[in-house]
Amino acid sequence: MDYRKPSFSFFSFFKIILILCSNIPQISAVEYPINVWPKPTTFLWPNPQAILLAGNFTIFAHNHRYLTPAVSRYLRLVLTENHLPLVNPPLNLTSAPPLTALIITVADVASPLTHGVNESYTLSIPSSGVNAILTAQTVWGAMRGLETFSQLVYSSPSSVACGLYISDVPLFMHRGIMLDTSRNYYGVKDLLRLVKAMSMNKLNVFHWHITDSHSFPIVLPSEPELAGKGAYGESMKYTAADVRNVVEFGMEYGVRVVPEIDMPAHTGSWAEAYPEIVTCANMFWWPAESDPLAAEPGTGQLNPLHPKTYQVVKNVVHDVVTMFPDQLYHAGADEVVPNCWKVDPSIQNFLSKNGTLSQILEIFVKTTLPYITSLNRTVVYWEDVLLDAEINVSSSLLPPENVILQTWNNGPNNTKKIVDSGYRVIVSSADFYYLDCGHGDFVGNNSQYNQPPGTPQGNGGSWCGPFKTWQTIYNYDITYGLNEAESKLVLGGEVALWSEQADSTVMDPRIWPRASAMAEALWSGNRDETGKSRYAEATDRLNEWRYRMVTRGIYAEPIQPLWCVKNPGMWGKPRPTRSCDCPGNEKTGFSFINCEVGGSGKVWLGRAWGAYATVVFSKTHMSDVVSSDGWNDWRDSSRDQTVFFGGANYTYRVAYGKQTEAAPYMDIST
Ligand SMILES: *[C@@H]1O[C@H](CO)[C@@H](O)[C@H](O)[C@H]1NC(C)=O
Ligand SMILES: *[C@@H]1O[C@H](CO)[C@@H](O)[C@H](O)[C@H]1NC(C)=O
Ligand SMILES: *[C@@H]1O[C@H](CO)[C@@H](O)[C@H](O)[C@H]1NC(C)=O
Ligand SMILES: *[C@@H]1O[C@H](CO)[C@@H](O)[C@H](O)[C@H]1NC(C)=O
Ligand SMILES: *[C@@H]1O[C@H](CO)[C@@H](O)[C@H](O)[C@H]1NC(C)=O
Ligand SMILES: *[C@@H]1O[C@H](CO)[C@@H](O)[C@H](O)[C@H]1NC(C)=O
Ligand SMILES: *[C@@H]1O[C@H](CO)[C@@H](O)[C@H](O)[C@H]1NC(C)=O
Ligand SMILES: *[C@@H]1O[C@H](CO)[C@@H](O)[C@H](O)[C@H]1NC(C)=O
Ligand SMILES: *[C@@H]1O[C@H](CO)[C@@H](O)[C@H](O)[C@H]1NC(C)=O
Repeated sequence: MDYRKPSFSFFSFFKIILILCSNIPQISAVEYPINVWPKPTTFLWPNPQAILLAGNFTIFAHNHRYLTPAVSRYLRLVLTENHLPLVNPPLNLTSAPPLTALIITVADVASPLTHGVNESYTLSIPSSGVNAILTAQTVWGAMRGLETFSQLVYSSPSSVACGLYISDVPLFMHRGIMLDTSRNYYGVKDLLRLVKAMSMNKLNVFHWHITDSHSFPIVLPSEPELAGKGAYGESMKYTAADVRNVVEFGMEYGVRVVPEIDMPAHTGSWAEAYPEIVTCANMFWWPAESDPLAAEPGTGQLNPLHPKTYQVVKNVVHDVVTMFPDQLYHAGADEVVPNCWKVDPSIQNFLSKNGTLSQILEIFVKTTLPYITSLNRTVVYWEDVLLDAEINVSSSLLPPENVILQTWNNGPNNTKKIVDSGYRVIVSSADFYYLDCGHGDFVGNNSQYNQPPGTPQGNGGSWCGPFKTWQTIYNYDITYGLNEAESKLVLGGEVALWSEQADSTVMDPRIWPRASAMAEALWSGNRDETGKSRYAEATDRLNEWRYRMVTRGIYAEPIQPLWCVKNPGMWGKPRPTRSCDCPGNEKTGFSFINCEVGGSGKVWLGRAWGAYATVVFSKTHMSDVVSSDGWNDWRDSSRDQTVFFGGANYTYRVAYGKQTEAAPYMDIST
């Protein structure tokens, strides 16, 4: 162990912790001059000051295959970044001599980067005399602490926030991003930039949706023809060396890489090499007068009744497991479309003998799942394998100790269904966490693109529109409606970028800073210690963080005009509100009505002709929204709305603005 220990005494270290901790409540809602994203769980900074980093400032740590490169990287960053925040932190320098070292101690240096690894750390940066101290259970926690330290460094010459103590631990162990590299290709350098940005945000899982119907970009030694014929081109493949590069890079950044080879649906690209094992390949996706053959253009599903299918699948699984060391293996299993299987004669024959499509999927799962688990992998499936309304398998085939389900439909309802069936769940609700939504559609010749003036233009065909704003993502409570025991089965979440309309040209702005919003919600939560949503308080911090990511080479999109940052207090004021005597039925022309509601129940709004309206639950102010159904266009009187709430006493506010000639009118009942 190359661990040089410079002069520092544990006595002075503990003295500082003692001074910092005595009589200081945890005040996470306090506005600090400089911040860390995601916000640490405990951040004590009673007397904000800064200290210069000495010219010979260094970081001492255990010599470790992955921690050592991280330490070198962060040392270079803190000495050379010279970040100038948008709002210069009003911090005075201490009179103490510059800080010469950050000392890292790790309790369990051998702990590998696995699902559930301990990522906690503590960081103290004293304002005088002694070194800064970072302690962690594992090297992976130490990497999180290094990131925190780097975000506290700013200015030229480099200064760091001091007189502070941080104790930090994530709420959820699985915090990820899913990227689809099949519909459009991303270069390896883009994937590395993604991993790097994830690490900056303390995200720890890159879920790589490698293959789909559109292309098969990964070169597998046992099945070279799959990429040979199924990739978009010679320059759009991932070789074994590329994969090693991404996986090793991930280790140095504390980011695990979970591969997904989607099957049995979403496999049209396999047909280029093996047409015999794929049903409905290369057909027009939605024939006239019938249901579609695929969820979107790009048809093809593996045929579970063809023996050759399993020969190929086993080679694929074997190679992918060999290339990706992570415990989790994502086996897809979403969106099996009946008609695609039904065009195949062998399947028709099976069905004619009273077999069902679900039985065909069961045959596939029964044959492939035990093989994957025999390779010591825990399998992640999309929820469809259990919850699809038409083609699904019995839970008896999906042992909860070997299977994790990833939810994407029906918001909290499906999360609850999954945990109630005894499974661990990863939340990727399309209503909150899909980053591709709101960019229209990619199918040509769709009349939704051509609505006459005066009619709602809709989402331009986006099936999951509107666009999910950072606030939508930030405010989503992934354990909504679950009790404590059920919540324990929620491992965490992943935002997902499906790439029909994305590639490296838009990757950064489409992912960031919205993934940062999830990163904070899953690390330290989206509420302050009184239970209030803190998205309003987070806006300034996210502005700064987005700006810092940009200066670090991540092209995160802006969340506000720069003017807002430069004119604090001139934006974000709550709208004026007005009380009324609710609940009850109400005919009103007010622009806001406020009602106290308790326990649980529902608010029903109907006949809101000529109005835009929303229902917002909040504790006290419009700014601490607990939940909201978003602004809806209610010019169409047929769209009555019911909004549920539960668990606590909230104020709800019905807000609307008159749009057309008809008088606004609402029925509200609880
Ligand atoms: C850094 O420089 C200071 C003064 O120049 C010296 O006292 C200190 O030992 C040096 N620290 C290291 C780690 O070299
Ligand atoms: C910085 O020091 C100046 C001069 O002593 C003082 O007026 C000011 O309040 C200090 N600022 C902060 C943020 O402590
Ligand atoms: C993680 O490590 C810290 C520090 O050793 C410890 O206090 C904590 O209990 C550990 N967390 C878990 C979940 O083991
Ligand atoms: C199976 O995986 C676990 C977790 O990654 C690991 O600890 C264990 O050593 C593996 N077992 C075998 C036989 O490879
Ligand atoms: C299929 O089911 C029908 C109706 O229950 C029955 O009449 C028929 O004999 C069954 N065919 C086979 C091959 O089992
Ligand atoms: C699973 O599929 C069957 C038809 O095979 C259907 O009856 C059942 O409702 C489906 N399950 C769910 C949860 O939708
Ligand atoms: C969830 O379930 C509730 C109650 O059954 C239902 O009203 C609501 O529409 C469901 N939400 C979604 C997104 O499916
Ligand atoms: C668009 O689709 C309609 C029918 O849905 C068809 O009549 C028309 O020819 C199509 N136009 C083009 C340019 O493909
Ligand atoms: C909600 O309001 C009811 C009626 O005023 C009251 O009995 C109950 O204690 C309140 N619950 C909470 C959690 O404040």
